[in-house]
Amino acid sequence: MTACFAPAKVNLALHITGQRADGYHLLDSLVVFPRIGDTLIASAAPAGAAPSLTLTGRFAAELGETAAQDNLVLRALGAACAAAGRPEPSLALTLDKQLPVASGIGGGSSDAAAALKVALDDLELAPEALQSLALSLGADVPACLEGVLTGRPLRMSGIGETLTPLSPLPDLGMVLVNPGKPVSTPAIFRSLSRRDNPPLPDLPDRFETLETLIDWLKGTRNDMQAAAETLCPEITSVLQALSEAPSTRLARMSGSGATCFALTAPGDEEQLAQDLRAAHPDWWVAAGPLL
Ligand code: C5P
Repeated sequence: MTACFAPAKVNLALHITGQRADGYHLLDSLVVFPRIGDTLIASAAPAGAAPSLTLTGRFAAELGETAAQDNLVLRALGAACAAAGRPEPSLALTLDKQLPVASGIGGGSSDAAAALKVALDDLELAPEALQSLALSLGADVPACLEGVLTGRPLRMSGIGETLTPLSPLPDLGMVLVNPGKPVSTPAIFRSLSRRDNPPLPDLPDRFETLETLIDWLKGTRNDMQAAAETLCPEITSVLQALSEAPSTRLARMSGSGATCFALTAPGDEEQLAQDLRAAHPDWWVAAGPLL
């Protein structure tokens, strides 16, 4: 049996810098991976059995309703085997779904990346083949594959295919909050008022302190946040609750929402999460350091 952690993908900054002729958006993003995520467990099944997927965990039912047979995990496994010219392995997969579905933190993409990692334990695929396979499964899957394999922060550009690994960030605490409303990524992209924003400001070789990271982040944005707040006003309530907390150093939305994050000094995140759970029992609240 092997277990693979599929971390949330959090966009600390997300600038939308253009749009390709095929409609996909060009972006420039600082992406990090907290110790908050799903887990994919693979066990051997009887020889000849087709791969199977069982869902467990807090968001299993939601995922079952939206993805049914077409789950990205089985598609990723099938695509990896096809690319390597090998039959699909007899694996019983269990996905412990702890991340909310359609929530801007790449849960489905990270699950697919974990399936690629499980497949890779048995297959040989060149790094370029692996990256193009990941991109064919979704624009966020290449970044999430790096998250699964290394957990390191990344600068992500293009539509998600250009990845630059960054030095580890200073120690910090992260709290993720989702108000329980799924958000459609294509709908947010469609309703953007501008698609020609400037790229991220220059990144230093390394952020020496949390203060320098926060100062740099204050010169950046999530260009999808305003459109997402219009379509999902609960995001505004989440951002207000996070911003008002004394331990919050920065609060912002991730991806196309509705999940928002707060950054805190290391060790402050658990208390902030407890306070938010007490005040808003309907919200999903998770806390942890970065990987
Ligand atoms: O690649 P993925 O299937 O995750 O993308 C879902 C949808 O989000 C796309 O069909 C597209 O409408 C939109 N999208 C985009 N630009 C990106 C990523 C996604 O317009 N860079």
